[in-house]
Amino acid sequence: MKPILISTSKHLLCAALLAISTSLSAQTATTDSGLVQKFGNKAYEWGKMLPEQVEILKLSGDVARGKEAFRGCRGCHKADAGGLLDGTYPRLTGQHASVVIKQVTEVRAGIRANPKMAPFSSDHAVTPQEIADIAVYVEQLTTARENGKGPGTMLARGKALYEQGKCAECHGERGEGKALNAYPVVAAQHYEYLRRELDHIQKGIRGNSHPKMVKAIERYTREDMEAVSDYMSRMPDYRLTSR
Ligand code: HEC
Ligand code: HEC
Repeated sequence: MKPILISTSKHLLCAALLAISTSLSAQTATTDSGLVQKFGNKAYEWGKMLPEQVEILKLSGDVARGKEAFRGCRGCHKADAGGLLDGTYPRLTGQHASVVIKQVTEVRAGIRANPKMAPFSSDHAVTPQEIADIAVYVEQLTTARENGKGPGTMLARGKALYEQGKCAECHGERGEGKALNAYPVVAAQHYEYLRRELDHIQKGIRGNSHPKMVKAIERYTREDMEAVSDYMSRMPDYRLTSR
């Protein structure tokens, strides 16, 4: 049995819950109503946990069971969970369990728009325990396949945007994200997926974006999105780089 969030103690799970709800109170204090409207879902408050998320984060995931349960995901995310090079399906390998849980439960709750995946992540398809199992399973996986990269022509601009936009405060210098806050890993993700998410987050159609994330890219042009996505897609798997 493997507790969620890489840790070996249940206490860290509680810390994760706390970290998320603390960032919520900090959040609501600074969120102005103009920003809230940009989420695409006015009722969405980032960091406010759904009852099901609280339930799942209290469970321990099991890697072997997760491998079994992942059968229902392989049609799109592929057997190695590496997704598709063209970004249609994101890589899930190395993504924090907390992020996987947040995203799957929010798709299932109809908060994050993802019509393709909805039937496969519904209550009929996977149980809360299976979501916990899948989350710890994909988190520890690596894929031997290359990820999709951009054209490589605007990398200096991408790096500058990543640094000036304070992206590293949440996604890390090496794109490693932050498990305790459910901030996603962006390193070695497929370029086209990153670019599409930035576009959806900016347009407010993703449904579940952090208000500061929305603000960080509100003035981005299409080229800015391409440049920063290319830069992120070329960050190696964060588990292979040292701090
Ligand atoms: C029919 C295809 C399909 C199936 C089956 C599917 N997914 Fe997905 N999944 C997608 C698509 C498409 C996206 C990206 C959506 C977008 O562009 O925002 C996605 C996104 C995700 C994400 C978000 C990743 C991120 O970085 O935010 C997670 C996590 C995920 N899927 C997990 C799962 C799990 C677990 C299963 C099985 C229970 C599953 N998916 C089954 C199509 C699928
Ligand atoms: C305050 C923290 C924060 C900052 C700053 C931030 N992000 Fe994010 N970002 C998030 C969170 C949280 C998500 C996931 C949203 C969700 O579903 O809850 C996200 C999602 C993303 C995604 C989609 C990843 C995926 O797996 O679906 C990309 C790409 C991204 N951010 C890039 C950036 C870039 C580039 C910057 C800087 C310009 C940036 N972010 C700044 C918190 C942040």
